[in-house]
Amino acid sequence: MYLDNQPGWYQNAVFYEIYVRAFYDSSGDGNGDLAGVAEKLDHLQDLGVDCLWLMPIYPSPLKDDGYDIADFTAIHPDYGNLDDFRRLIDEAHRRGLRVILDLVLNHTSDQHPWFQAARHDRNSPYRDYYVWSDSDQQYGDARIIFLDTQTSNWTWDELAGQYFWHRFYPCQPDLNYDNPAVQQVVLEAARFWLELGVDGFRADAVPYLFEREGTNCENLPETHAFLKRLRAFIDEHYPGRILLCEANQWPHDVCDYFGEGDEFHMAFHFPLMPRIYMALRRRQVNPLVWVFEQTPAIPAGCQWCTFLRNHDELTLEMVYPQDREWMWQEYAPEPRMRLNLGIRRRLAPLLGNDRAQIELANSLLFTLPGAPVLYYGDEIGMGDDIWLPDRNGVRTPMQWQAGGSAGFSTLEPVRLYAPVIDAPGYTSQEVNVADQRADPASLLNTIRRMIAVRKAHLAFSLGEMTWVDAGDPALAVYWRWYDNERILVAQNLSAEPCQAIVPAAGKGELRDLLTGETVGLEGEKLRLDLPARAYRWLL
Ligand code: GLC
Repeated sequence: MYLDNQPGWYQNAVFYEIYVRAFYDSSGDGNGDLAGVAEKLDHLQDLGVDCLWLMPIYPSPLKDDGYDIADFTAIHPDYGNLDDFRRLIDEAHRRGLRVILDLVLNHTSDQHPWFQAARHDRNSPYRDYYVWSDSDQQYGDARIIFLDTQTSNWTWDELAGQYFWHRFYPCQPDLNYDNPAVQQVVLEAARFWLELGVDGFRADAVPYLFEREGTNCENLPETHAFLKRLRAFIDEHYPGRILLCEANQWPHDVCDYFGEGDEFHMAFHFPLMPRIYMALRRRQVNPLVWVFEQTPAIPAGCQWCTFLRNHDELTLEMVYPQDREWMWQEYAPEPRMRLNLGIRRRLAPLLGNDRAQIELANSLLFTLPGAPVLYYGDEIGMGDDIWLPDRNGVRTPMQWQAGGSAGFSTLEPVRLYAPVIDAPGYTSQEVNVADQRADPASLLNTIRRMIAVRKAHLAFSLGEMTWVDAGDPALAVYWRWYDNERILVAQNLSAEPCQAIVPAAGKGELRDLLTGETVGLEGEKLRLDLPARAYRWLL
């Protein structure tokens, strides 16, 4: 079954990012798989999310956890096969859940047959699928992204007798988009999955598709031209499916990826994310006000995707050096917590496992403009393991129930692809889905209620936002409004009680959408007493 092709469904959707290997192991081999995701759709439906984003599921040597693709049109054997995939899509659609896939446009794995053919034979038609050079000096203005481990974007290939270009790890050679054949095979890969019913793609690392001497090789006009071509292809053949842009850039640059409503439907808002953490720790609203001042209006039919965490390090690329140092001091006091220009920790540990702050962060996420993307496990406050390599510490098995392998697998813990978190405060005895489901006051149920309320009121997703100066810099107060609906969101970022004073001339009542309580309006100003870190969504 395919869902209605409602245009705009994504604008008020809540997204949920899944690392398939970590979610649920249905086959008992220690790795999560597609059938496992299908078995756990109840949880996702209950939570109330609308669209699942699956991290790469393709065959891959897994040097970058699947972002190194060795075959664009097949399933990694650990995850199952195409039948499992079809079943997952059907099951999800039957429940009204959509599914988007990660599509890595910029590069392949060095194990991809195209690259193998290219490096072995200068005359192979695949040679020109990649970017080669006799010197490693070309495109010197392009920055290095994986700063911790890489010193150049060029790597010498002995077999090829030339250098090849890569913006990420050397095992991820960049595709050559100047070659029309490359553009064509990428469109064909997209078609393959769209034919199988996927609802769109999270397009990985899009700023880097083309290279031009004398530029930083990011956001080039040629790149936008190809992406518009991909969009036109989708609109023509698969209307209603979406493209979500991963471009870790400033909003004015990211806005170009919306085009005039003819490029991406959605784009992550990278600079907002660290400013949520800044606002929380400084107990000041100004980082949030500032970042929305930097955020241009976007074309009709487009939407930002907002998030607190994802599968990568908490990236600090979009903050100034001084703020980055401050973020590291505050949120990554141990050197091991730092990675590249970021922090390899999950939401709950970042916020000291403090329930009030975790709820407040989610309140901001669900009420500020944009469509929220949750990262698996954060809905129950899962912990991390900074001692695992690279970003693996935030990719550990989902904790479904207490004890053993946390209900993730029937295998014993030592045989899982990664250890279950066992840090005090975060063990599966303390943090798991089953217990939180049964407890009305749990984080899981709190987030479930937030999602339900958000989805019942379009002002949160489609509405305008106006900041309110409520008399104290620790107050994050704004109106969200759409049609006749006006919602006042009032949040106290501070650890002290605080009174918000909101100009609200009129009579009547405001109703707290989360608790049902009412607040009487009398006179010119509304005075709201907000306990430490309180949040209220008032209709
Ligand atoms: C994106 C992914 C990241 C990956 C990189 C290279 O930034 O989020 O996980 O390592 O692209 O594909």
